[in-house]
Amino acid sequence: MAKLQKTTVEMEGRFEERWVLVEEEPPAWEDERPLNVAGTRVARLTGPRRVSGAARYVSDVALPGMLHGVIVRSPHAHATVELDVEAARAVPGVLAVLSPADADVTQGRNPIFQSEPTFAGAPVAALACETAEAARAGMEALAPRYTVLGFVTDAAQALAEQRLQEDPVESETGDVEAGMAEADVIVEAEYATAAQVHHALEPHCGVAQWLGDELHAYVSTQGIWDARTEFARAFELDPDRVHVTCEFMGGGFGAKQGATTEGMVAAYLSRAAAGRAVRVFNDRRAEGVAAGHRSETHTQTYRIGARRDGTLTAIEVTSVIANPMRGWIDPTTTPARTLYRCANVRAQAIPLLIDVEPSNAFRAPGIMEGTFGYESALDELAAALSLDPLDLRRANDVDVDQISGLPYTAKNLEACIDRAAELAGWTERGALRDREHPDGRKRGLGAACQIWWGGGGPPAHALVRMGHDGVVTVVTGAQDIGTGVTTAFAQVAAEELGLPLDRVRVEVGSTRYGVYAPVSGGSQTMPSVAPAVRSAAYDLRGKLLELAGDVFEVSPDDLQIVDGSFVSLDGALREPIVEVTGKLGKAQLVGTGSRGPNPDGMRVNTFGCQIAQVAVDVATGEISVERVVAVHDIGRVIAPLQARSQVEGGVLQGLGFALMEERVIDPTTGTVVNANLEDYKLPTHADCPEIVVEFINRPDPHASTLGLKGLGEPPIVPTAPAIANAIYHATGVRVRTSPITRRRFLEARAG
Ligand code: MOS
Repeated sequence: MAKLQKTTVEMEGRFEERWVLVEEEPPAWEDERPLNVAGTRVARLTGPRRVSGAARYVSDVALPGMLHGVIVRSPHAHATVELDVEAARAVPGVLAVLSPADADVTQGRNPIFQSEPTFAGAPVAALACETAEAARAGMEALAPRYTVLGFVTDAAQALAEQRLQEDPVESETGDVEAGMAEADVIVEAEYATAAQVHHALEPHCGVAQWLGDELHAYVSTQGIWDARTEFARAFELDPDRVHVTCEFMGGGFGAKQGATTEGMVAAYLSRAAAGRAVRVFNDRRAEGVAAGHRSETHTQTYRIGARRDGTLTAIEVTSVIANPMRGWIDPTTTPARTLYRCANVRAQAIPLLIDVEPSNAFRAPGIMEGTFGYESALDELAAALSLDPLDLRRANDVDVDQISGLPYTAKNLEACIDRAAELAGWTERGALRDREHPDGRKRGLGAACQIWWGGGGPPAHALVRMGHDGVVTVVTGAQDIGTGVTTAFAQVAAEELGLPLDRVRVEVGSTRYGVYAPVSGGSQTMPSVAPAVRSAAYDLRGKLLELAGDVFEVSPDDLQIVDGSFVSLDGALREPIVEVTGKLGKAQLVGTGSRGPNPDGMRVNTFGCQIAQVAVDVATGEISVERVVAVHDIGRVIAPLQARSQVEGGVLQGLGFALMEERVIDPTTGTVVNANLEDYKLPTHADCPEIVVEFINRPDPHASTLGLKGLGEPPIVPTAPAIANAIYHATGVRVRTSPITRRRFLEARAG
């Protein structure tokens, strides 16, 4: 029975009461349930299509008569612009021109094209053209004339001028001064982190076409349903008249929310060009200047008090952030407030406004850069107390969420720490550091821990249908942004239905199915959608058993499905399921399911510990990460191979953040000088350490009927501080600014 229920819904640490539609859920998988398909290592089902080129990404969408959409972007940090729109319209092959005069061309109520652009890369116009040549001629005729105005792109200057984006956010629990008075040692340190650019392999892109009053949009997006809502609002359409498709995607990492600017511009251009299909595709430069980034933390200042035994007595943290996501500025201080037990915490987050593109969510936004500062500061505290850094963390472990006071549904952080220490050879780290290595480098180990949400929740829906061939198709309106969740969904359905994996197909990536699933963000796709898939499969299994009961004239209660066959409990009957489904003709059997609510009065979180081993050439400052051990607690693991990939990707992105990734702005022009993949350094295979991945793999008794949690964000969170701490352990040099380039290392070494 379906019902409407009011429940708490969480997204990246924000909690909201909402009505959700939920159906009755089956009992949870038992902890000791033997698993045949779920929990086993299987290659991703989409692999052959991906590697053969058959997978259809947005860039592969080619519609009849499709036009080239181009966005004209300001080259200046701040300017006014004049355009010859009529001249551009007169160019043969130019079918539509949008400019600041089109004030009704909006995204989230803000006009997309600015007559006074406030960052280098801001859209000032867009054209839809028959050919790329016509687009070039059109842009030339548009002849933008800029009057350059003053700008501030430097965070220090913005701070000096008190250029705030919004009001600072402050919080205090307990009594920080009293806590400091109780401390035997107080450590104070200041950190900073550079802006990190997403640079997903697939740039932002969209194709849009109007068919009568229906909008068909193909968007590289983490959220086809949010895109549908955005399009419907912008064009005042019934949402059912909007169809959004994203079958395959080359990453988003938080920067591809909803319709995206590129998708919106494609839709507006198509409307202006009499509904003809329009394609808008960012080049790499646009990705580097206008597609979002992880905000720079100008400073993160920590003052941490502790007793001799390591017990934390007080924490004070102030974070100054340049262009944080609007209304979302406190996450950088959240690790200090929640990762370990401390009764007295004061936190302040100060958001500066600089004339650089707005930031966007980036894999554990705020939390990741805040963890760099906090876990570095704790390492400094451990050194000041002469404590083993892992013992310091163990001493302050806590099973109650420090902000809400609510207990965690499950927490195995200590188990993560213990296992990571074992795998990394933690107890031998002194010998590793003191040994003379043949290559003359210094080696050391550093550790850091992680807290993130990732509980998922309703609303999320799925249906599972089976035809005469006994092959099952899982249908859900999620999108696979590159993580491999579709394979995990197939494993869940196969497990529940007692089918081999090759009898399961999965359809995702279209709003046309009418089966809602949430945005692939906040590490919520698996924990939200997989339980819905499982419920739908359970529903279908019940129906199949009923039919089998009719066909074989036995009670359905006496039947099971094992490896694609109906098997009676006494073992006397064993018949392939096609003996029943073969009688369906063209009819299909359908099961439906939805994600039930999370438990009241508890917090669902993920935890983990990573230990990095680095080798440092102290003379040149060359740093290589040789090994990263990553042990995470996400409850039950359904797809170990895909989970492993998530951890590898997170570790590599964290490694990039730690050592090389930095958006560089020329202070004289206010423009990004490394908006390409040559000068913006991303880790490559040559930088890839050995990555040892393990999961605690204990079902969380309160986290859905599958006992699992999300993994999108957790693995990126602790990598960078683990590396910084390893550099300190190896060399005694503490670098407090990311990325830890050779220059920063050598400067810190020089003191
Ligand atoms: Mo969010 S950074 O889209 O998971």
